[in-house]
Amino acid sequence: MHCGTRRSLHSPRSQGRPDMKIGIIGAGNIGGNLTRRLTALGHDVSVANSRGPHTLTALAEETGATPVPVAEAARGAEVVVVTVPLKAVPDLPSGLFDEAADGVAVIDTGNYYPRQRDGRISAIEDDGLTESRWTERHLGHPVIKAFNGTYAQDILDRPRPVGAPDRIALPVAGDDEAAKRKVRSLIDELGFDTVDAGGLDESWRQQPDTPVYGLQAGVEAVTKALAEASRERTPDFRG
Ligand SMILES: NC(=O)c1ccc[n+]([C@@H]2O[C@H](COP(=O)([O-])OP(=O)(O)OC[C@H]3O[C@@H](n4cnc5c(N)ncnc54)[C@H](OP(=O)(O)O)[C@@H]3O)[C@@H](O)[C@H]2O)c1
Repeated sequence: MHCGTRRSLHSPRSQGRPDMKIGIIGAGNIGGNLTRRLTALGHDVSVANSRGPHTLTALAEETGATPVPVAEAARGAEVVVVTVPLKAVPDLPSGLFDEAADGVAVIDTGNYYPRQRDGRISAIEDDGLTESRWTERHLGHPVIKAFNGTYAQDILDRPRPVGAPDRIALPVAGDDEAAKRKVRSLIDELGFDTVDAGGLDESWRQQPDTPVYGLQAGVEAVTKALAEASRERTPDFRG
């Protein structure tokens, strides 16, 4: 189930927020559903995958998003979502954000799955970089970690109005406070609460296999789960 055609949900303009230009790199489970919801909210979305814009015509027709080559996805964007498998991050073109809007907020949704998908990454396992710090270094731009523990289907199924008792909360980590504010505001617009999970070096608290990962709960429970996280990687999540 998805939320229907463009502008089928309430417009952000009714809340006094202007539409934004948003780039989405990766059009899979997460990128596809964010494209659906962000276009429905009235934003101007450009979306890219690895195979090229001609493979995104169905998503474009469904949502009104503009399919673009990866190198053009961030052009003029105030927010860019990088939502590709972690092992694909080093393959993204350099200078990806050179033509983005000033102060662009870059959201990283990624997770490191060494056994199933990504292979062993020494900088994460031996040097202790958080997954998003590793991604940030490859991208050459600060990132805000968000959506990494959110089921893709929940992006469509679980938006709720502010104050709804079953509104779920997403942890958001990052060092750039202005970018973090922008991302938290966008997530609120998408129908979710947020919890400030600290800087990127604290973002291990929301990585796979932590208590908050996949937790579908409100602010209080998410805050508690972040506090209860252990930094140690369990064997299943080591390469
Ligand atoms: N699935 C979930 O529920 C979920 C939840 C939270 C976080 N995450 C994390 O979010 C990230 C994306 O997950 P996903 O499930 O959405 O992945 P996915 O369904 O496998 O989709 C990946 C997308 O990335 C694109 N891509 C791959 N390599 C690329 C490259 N070099 N340049 C441009 N685009 C590239 C793919 O394009 P092509 O199809 O053309 O190759 C595809 O559109 C992962 O790190 C995942 O762990 C996933």
